[in-house]
Amino acid sequence: MAKTYRILVVDDEESITFLLKTELEELSDFDVDVALNGTEAINLIQSTIYDIALLDIKMPRVSGIDVLRFINEHSPATQVIMLTNIVDYKTAIETIKLGAYDFISKPYDSQQLLATVRRAVERRQLVIDKEVMKRELSRISGPSGLVGESVVFCNVVENARKLADSEAFVLIQGASGTGKELIAHLLHNESPRRDQPFVAVNCASIPDQLLESELFGHEKGAFTNAYAAKQGLVEVANGGTLFLDEVGDISQPTQAKLLRFLETGEFRRVGGTNSMKVDVRVVSASNKDLPQEVKAGRFREDLLYRLNVVSLKLPTLQERKEDISLLVDYFLKRKSKANPKKVSPDAMTILLRYNWPGNVRELEHVIEGATVLSQGDTIEAKDLWINPSLAGNSDAAARLETPEGQGSSLSLEAIEKIHIEKVLNANQWNRLKTAQVLGITPKTLYLKIKKYGIKASYSPDA
Ligand SMILES: Nc1ncnc2c1ncn2[C@@H]1O[C@H](COP(=O)(O)OP(=O)(O)OP(=O)(O)O)[C@@H](O)[C@H]1O
Ligand SMILES: [Mg+2]
Repeated sequence: MAKTYRILVVDDEESITFLLKTELEELSDFDVDVALNGTEAINLIQSTIYDIALLDIKMPRVSGIDVLRFINEHSPATQVIMLTNIVDYKTAIETIKLGAYDFISKPYDSQQLLATVRRAVERRQLVIDKEVMKRELSRISGPSGLVGESVVFCNVVENARKLADSEAFVLIQGASGTGKELIAHLLHNESPRRDQPFVAVNCASIPDQLLESELFGHEKGAFTNAYAAKQGLVEVANGGTLFLDEVGDISQPTQAKLLRFLETGEFRRVGGTNSMKVDVRVVSASNKDLPQEVKAGRFREDLLYRLNVVSLKLPTLQERKEDISLLVDYFLKRKSKANPKKVSPDAMTILLRYNWPGNVRELEHVIEGATVLSQGDTIEAKDLWINPSLAGNSDAAARLETPEGQGSSLSLEAIEKIHIEKVLNANQWNRLKTAQVLGITPKTLYLKIKKYGIKASYSPDA
C-alpha cells in the first residue's frame, strides 16, 4: 500500500484549483481536496488531516495568510506552500516568517511546483519522524530481534507474522517482560504500513488527565497551560500503527472515549468541536488478564471486544526454558560483540533452574549485570544476582514462600522490592553499582528505594 498524501488546494480562481488538482492527481500518490475560499479551507482543515496545503495569498475576506495562521495553530505538521499572484516578495517573505514552508509565484512552472511539493512532503515526514523518534527514544529499548526456538514461542511469532499482513486489531497478552512490545513492532514492521509511523503510547505511564489529550490532542485554551493547539498521537500515527501499551490501565472515562474512536475512527480534540478521522491500525498489549478485569468491572467488555479481534498470548520464560541458553548467548553477544563472556556450568544450572518471574527482561538484566561484575571471561554462579529462593532450595526461600508454598504467587512489586534489597546489600549499598546490576538508572533506583521504604540493614562505611 503506497502512501497517498493528502493535499489541500485553496484558491478563489476555479481554473487554478482545477489545474492543480488535475496535475497533482495524475501522480498516483496524491489525493487532492479543493477549497474556493478561506472559510471553506478552514472547515476542511478541521475535519481532515492534510500533509500539504497550497494557499493562494490574496483571497477576499479570509486570506491565505489567515488560513496559514489557522494551520499553524491547528495542524502544525501540515506543510504550507503559498501561491502568490504578482511576485510580491515582501508578502511572500512575510509568510515564510509566519511558518510557510515555501512560496511559488503564479503563473507557476509545473516541474518547479512538483519539486516543491515533494520537498514539502519530505519535510512533513521529518517533522513526524521527529515526533515518533522522541517517543521511541524515551522507551527503554528499541526494536530488536526475537530470539527463541521453542515450539510455544515459535507458534506465537508465526501467528504474528500471519496477522501482520491483515488490518485486524491485535491484543497481545502476556506477563511482564515476555516480549509483547517486540511482537507489536513485528506486527508493524512486517505489515503494509511499515513505512508509516509506529506510535507507541504507554497508557500506564501517562497520568489519566493527560492521556486523553496525548491521544487525541487539544485545542488552544482547552485547559490551563494549553497555550497552543497540539496534535494527538492518533494523528501522528495516521496511516500507520498505534500501539496502546498497558491498555488495561486506562481509566473508565478514557475507556469510553477510546471505544468511540475505535468504533468510528473519529475523534475530537480536547476542547474541540469538530470530529476528525484517521486511519490507524491498533495493536494493544497488557500484562493484566483483561477478561478477568472485565469480570471485576474495571475494564469495559465492549472495549475488550474491539481491541481483541485477534489475540496473541506470549509464553512466560518458565514455559520455554529450552530457550534460556539461546537467550543468554544472545544477550552476551549484544553486550560485547568482540569477545563475549562464557557462562560456567554451575552458573548455567542456576539460570536454568530459576523460575524467572520477570521473564526475558529479567534474564537480560541478570546477564548484563553479570557481565559487568564478573572478572575474567567467564560468568560464575556468584556473579548472578538472582533470588536464590526461586532458583532452588535455600534458607532464604522461607522468606519468599507464600502460604500456598509458591514464590510465583507473589506480586511483581514484592519480588522487585526483595530483589533490590538483596542487590543493595550485596553491593554494600553502593547505589551506582546496584543500579548498574539492576539495569536501571541511579535515579530510578533512588525512587524505588523511597517507594518501597527499603532501609540498610547495617550502616554502610559509617
Ligand atoms: N524473544 C526475545 N528475544 C530477545 N529479546 C527479547 C525477547 N523477548 C523479550 N526480549 C527483551 O526483553 C525485554 C522486555 O521485552 P518487552 O519490552 O517486549 O516485554 P513486555 O512484554 O512488553 O514487558 P512489559 O509487560 O513489562 O512491558 C526487552 O529488552 C526485549 O528486547
Ligand atoms: Mg511492554
